[in-house]
Amino acid sequence: MHFCDLTIETKVYLMEVTKEDLMNGSVHLSEDERACIIIDQTKLPNEELYLTLTRAEDFYDAIKRLAVRGAPAIGICAAYAMYVLALHKNAADTASLLSEMKKDGDYLISSRPTAVNLSWAVKRMLAKAEENASCDPADLVSILRKEAIAIHTEDIEMCCRISEYGLSLIKPGDGVLTHCNAGPLATSKYGTAIGPLLLGKERGIEFKAFADETRPLLQGARLTSYELDKAGIDVTLICDNMASMVMKNGWVQACFVGCDRIAANGDFANKIGTSGVAILAKHYGIPFYTLGPRSTIDMNCPTGADIKIEERDPDEIKEMWYEKPMAPKSVKCFNPSFDVTDHSLLTAIVTDAGIVYPPFEENLKKIMKDK
Ligand code: MRU
Repeated sequence: MHFCDLTIETKVYLMEVTKEDLMNGSVHLSEDERACIIIDQTKLPNEELYLTLTRAEDFYDAIKRLAVRGAPAIGICAAYAMYVLALHKNAADTASLLSEMKKDGDYLISSRPTAVNLSWAVKRMLAKAEENASCDPADLVSILRKEAIAIHTEDIEMCCRISEYGLSLIKPGDGVLTHCNAGPLATSKYGTAIGPLLLGKERGIEFKAFADETRPLLQGARLTSYELDKAGIDVTLICDNMASMVMKNGWVQACFVGCDRIAANGDFANKIGTSGVAILAKHYGIPFYTLGPRSTIDMNCPTGADIKIEERDPDEIKEMWYEKPMAPKSVKCFNPSFDVTDHSLLTAIVTDAGIVYPPFEENLKKIMKDK
């Protein structure tokens, strides 16, 4: 293991990410339970690097620059952040701890706006803290530790259930096209959209995956093809603009994509380009599914029009992956990180509570009534 200090608090170490490590997600509590450890997803697939996070700025920065990314993984990281930050405050009284936690929570939530799992996890940690406001600070910190671990454990269970439901929708040998990355790196285990393929592989069922490279940050090329390749799954990487041809050739029997926020009417935000894949799938008569846990469903968000879409730095398009800039410095860019897929294009939403078919407004209410 090779350590190099970036800051005093943020340790970075290089270590091979084994297949087993990878299948268990990208976010963990450190062994001494005083820090959160993430696989730095910005460095994959070329460098397998872990980051140790303890300070609010480290967590904010890791989420903002996508070192930790994928809606569920961001939620798990935020939950551990709320615990780790509370632990390191060594607060003298609970009232001041609670007020500091609220500030940390607002700061973390401001790092990325679209994935609801981030604010969902922060709010759940704050609600737990407020419920236990009569405890002394040390007891409260220990309650927060348990809650963060519960969020992580629940995500593992949710991914397993989603993977089972997803697997029931495809047949051995099917071609499955996916966009962006919704595998174990983006979650805790198996992933959501990639989960059925990994679970199938464990059971000896083979599929043919097609991974859109996913411009501009290349999550499909750098992360999905890396995960599937490591798991020994037949994966073909394509540029985003090749999806139509691959579908026309009859190679795709289903599209599985993740989601960052599902509105109450079934519209959902996912990585930019997802809505185009859905439109193509409809054209070719291919079923199109989004797979996500109930923590990604936002019943307070009526439709996709109410989802805030993150816009990112134009340099991600113009120069980030190139040796030389690929566009004039002064050219205008539009770089939305997500788009909204209309619910009319969706065959079904695969959740941890089952497969939800239209009418989504009515059927989402049923699975969310106890949430
Ligand atoms: O910008 P990213 O890489 O965080 O976008 C991620 C996605 O769009 C995923 O599909 C989504 O978060 C689901 S991950 C299970």
